[in-house]
Amino acid sequence: MENIKEFLQHNLKLPFKTLIYDEVLSTNTLCKELSRREKEDLAVIALSQSGGKGRLGRSFYSPKGSGTYISFLLHPKLNANESVKITTAAAVAAASAIDFISGKHSLIKWVNDIYLGGKKVCGILTEASFSGKGAGLDYAVLGIGLNLYDPENGFPQDIKEKAGSVFGKNKRDIQKTAEFITEFTRIFHDIYKKFPESGYMEEYRNRSMLNGKEVYFIKDGREVTGKVLGIDDNTQLLLETDSGVFPLLAGEVSLKTKS
Ligand code: BTN
Repeated sequence: MENIKEFLQHNLKLPFKTLIYDEVLSTNTLCKELSRREKEDLAVIALSQSGGKGRLGRSFYSPKGSGTYISFLLHPKLNANESVKITTAAAVAAASAIDFISGKHSLIKWVNDIYLGGKKVCGILTEASFSGKGAGLDYAVLGIGLNLYDPENGFPQDIKEKAGSVFGKNKRDIQKTAEFITEFTRIFHDIYKKFPESGYMEEYRNRSMLNGKEVYFIKDGREVTGKVLGIDDNTQLLLETDSGVFPLLAGEVSLKTKS
């Protein structure tokens, strides 16, 4: 098999300066380090991460030969309240790119997980930095981790119920990595150029796997249950609860019953 790093170096043509590594600690961490001297947008791609980071202080399993791990250092003209748009735009781009390479239909679990066939195949972690001068973003790092194939030894015990991959145990095809990165970046870049426009939220809502579902989340140590009514343009999850409509701006919800 051709070396995947060389293949990507020769075949990827992205609208960002692109750095490709066999392994890094975390592409998000590397982008944050690079932000000190790089004032232009750029992409960092790694074929594995030894310390991949997930949301809410979790780790992101990033073994070699299984997935693709990408971060973008971005300098969007967004204010603090609008920075969530980076995540939702990335979710739309990731879901569309997964469909493009697989011919299947993926769904978005609010806010930023992508599911295919009931399993999480892609996670997104956006880390924004504010200088404190004005309300604008200094820079943002958008990280995407995609499980293309099942890891050689399967997923670790703690995530094996939830995690899946786009192609499972199928034969590995290095073209798919390049196709995903190219398609993801094309769609994301189209939306990014038009920020803070939010026309893409229609697609986000259409792909939401929580529409009409009973979910719960933890508030002040208590479980709150609600039915998902929808998602507004500010990415708030609108829940019908016993005490009325509750807009949830951030966090994580779980399905009450799997269906
Ligand atoms: C999540 O599902 O909790 C978010 C996972 C984000 C993982 C990606 S992989 C590329 C980038 N680098 C990291 O360390 N994390 C993100």
